[in-house]
Amino acid sequence: MTPDVATLVDEMRRDEKLRLVRGRPDPDERATGYLPGVPRLDVPPLRLVDGPLGIRAEGERATAFPATLATAATFDPELAHTQGTALAREARAHGQHALLAPGVNVLRVPHCGRNFEYLSEDPVLASHHSRALVDGIQSEDVVATVKHYVANNQETHRTEVSAEVDERTLREVYLPPFRAAVEAGVGSVMTAYNRVNGVYMSDHDRLVGDVLKDEWGFGGYVVSDWYGLATTAGAANAGLDVEMPGVASGPEDAEFEWPDGIPDGSHAGLFGDPLATAIDEGAVPESRLDDMVTRVLAQMGRIGLLDDTERDGELDSQRHRDLARRIATRGTVLLDDDGVLPLSDDADVALLGPHVHEAKLGGGGSSETTPFHSVSPVDGLTERGEGTVTSARGIPEIESVSLFDLLPFVDAGHEDDATETPTTEPSLDDAVAAAEDADVAVVLVRDATTEARDRDTLSLPGRQDELVEAVAAANDRTVVVLRSGGPVETPWREAVAAVVEQWYPGQADGAALASVLYGDSDPGGRLPVTFAPEGTYPASDGRRFPGEDGEAHYDEGVFVGYRHFDASDAAPTYPFSHGHSYAEFVYRDAAVIDERTVEVTVENVAGRTGREVVQAYVRPPGGGGVDRPRRAFAGAAPVALAAGESATVRVLLDELAFSRYDGGWTVDTGEYDVEIGRSVADVRATVCVDR
Ligand code: GLC
Repeated sequence: MTPDVATLVDEMRRDEKLRLVRGRPDPDERATGYLPGVPRLDVPPLRLVDGPLGIRAEGERATAFPATLATAATFDPELAHTQGTALAREARAHGQHALLAPGVNVLRVPHCGRNFEYLSEDPVLASHHSRALVDGIQSEDVVATVKHYVANNQETHRTEVSAEVDERTLREVYLPPFRAAVEAGVGSVMTAYNRVNGVYMSDHDRLVGDVLKDEWGFGGYVVSDWYGLATTAGAANAGLDVEMPGVASGPEDAEFEWPDGIPDGSHAGLFGDPLATAIDEGAVPESRLDDMVTRVLAQMGRIGLLDDTERDGELDSQRHRDLARRIATRGTVLLDDDGVLPLSDDADVALLGPHVHEAKLGGGGSSETTPFHSVSPVDGLTERGEGTVTSARGIPEIESVSLFDLLPFVDAGHEDDATETPTTEPSLDDAVAAAEDADVAVVLVRDATTEARDRDTLSLPGRQDELVEAVAAANDRTVVVLRSGGPVETPWREAVAAVVEQWYPGQADGAALASVLYGDSDPGGRLPVTFAPEGTYPASDGRRFPGEDGEAHYDEGVFVGYRHFDASDAAPTYPFSHGHSYAEFVYRDAAVIDERTVEVTVENVAGRTGREVVQAYVRPPGGGGVDRPRRAFAGAAPVALAAGESATVRVLLDELAFSRYDGGWTVDTGEYDVEIGRSVADVRATVCVDR
């Protein structure tokens, strides 16, 4: 029987309450964060663990799912929900209770080192997947932790930069994915390191107290990012409930220079004695401590921790392996294809690139996961193809960067032992020769991103562009496969036969790649972020990114991503929501069902199965004296169709796509065109909705 939380709080001594609001070391040394519980009252410990791509319990292995950006690229919240359930089962299998995921910050800056952990440049797409991931995680009795609240859109100076952003932009762009998580009943919100309009998020009484807790009715606990508290009383009174990790770490040397983007590990324990003192001195009401403890206990009760309900979890099961592969396949985007794909089974393939022998699991930082097994591209294609598959690295390896490299005193845990350390020097001539001898050359290229660092360019690192150009010159049937955590420059795209975006495909890498390249699976992904020439993005000058004098000015307002490119004459390279299919679809009979629902019939007129993502965009009526985006993504419906099959699909139009904020929400009266199509740039029908 679950004990009554209020009774527990009444029975607790002050020192016992403080055990539930400040992190301590995990005796098992596996949790990322740990609250010791109150043994006298049978309140067990609460264990918190990273991360969005898989469980990072110290020294442990878990299923390495694809980057969150790949999940969003499926435009399929149901699949995201399934991923959430699997992540939660693996957390439970590792004895963990709260998952530090999903990360839902909007992709404002294409260079951001954590874009791979996030969802989209569009707030509606991000919101739909945020809600689905939270509900999936929590359906398996694990507390989801939506992060990083809010406007953590860059890694440069992340622990002190102030996002200078107006209220309308916050409401219409940056807050929605968090609000969606709250509407889904998320049990925890993690505050960001950064400031918003000059106030640290841990101390932000308007955004944490007034908006998150009062206006949205968030009833869970607000946890700091690690070492992310600015003050004791300021944070407690603003509404922060739990300090993590609560214990200092790092070098003893008080003069240690913490690298940019790395929080000061000595700044810890603020919710220990200092909180008791603040309460005794009247700076923090005792009732605030009771509220903090109540919020934590309520989440523990909700997941069965207070009535000792056992949860076994599930780890590295076939079901999870299949899911990791399905997400990687479905999230793969076919950017360009002149017909070279899919490959014929008996094609002789040259697989080229400095990392063809290892799966691309993810980016660097707290989301790093160590799988039980992984499928390299070489293994995946060799297993699937019936022709010869030769491989050559061609150029030196790309240095991957990780947050943990910046912290010499932290052991990142496993090195991925699937990586074979090459013994010979790579040769560009060998790669060119292999390409010349093959029917098709497939070149794998990657970026290098990590938490705590932004990319300094969108160009591919190392000599990868040189490799692609040399191979393309040797074989006019060259396919380039990008493995990136966001937009990259593709200067050679006119010289190659196909371009595929795989994001970070996780442990199933080679298997998913082979499945798409040989056509067993239709590439179901669509771009959740615009690919455009560097410098044409809105956050491209120093004042906007990385900011000046500690302030990043969000002067572009709501014109982020495709909303910016729609309003400017800068043409993107590959637009938001773009993605080809191996099949071909015809749209007909578009219709309005009601003011929030449209319908269309889609037919697959190709001779093979295909997967389409039917999308809807709302175009607000002119006038109103407000500068609004030309169109806003309102929803999508992924559908798989056999050759010659038709389906009538309905797309629910998210209210946010009609709305604008000016001190409150408004939906202007008038006629709203609703564009229905394959992407923001490939509209197949337009209907009209009256509001
Ligand atoms: C990090 C990250 C956060 C992560 C936490 C624990 O600094 O910002 O996403 O969950 O610390 O590792």
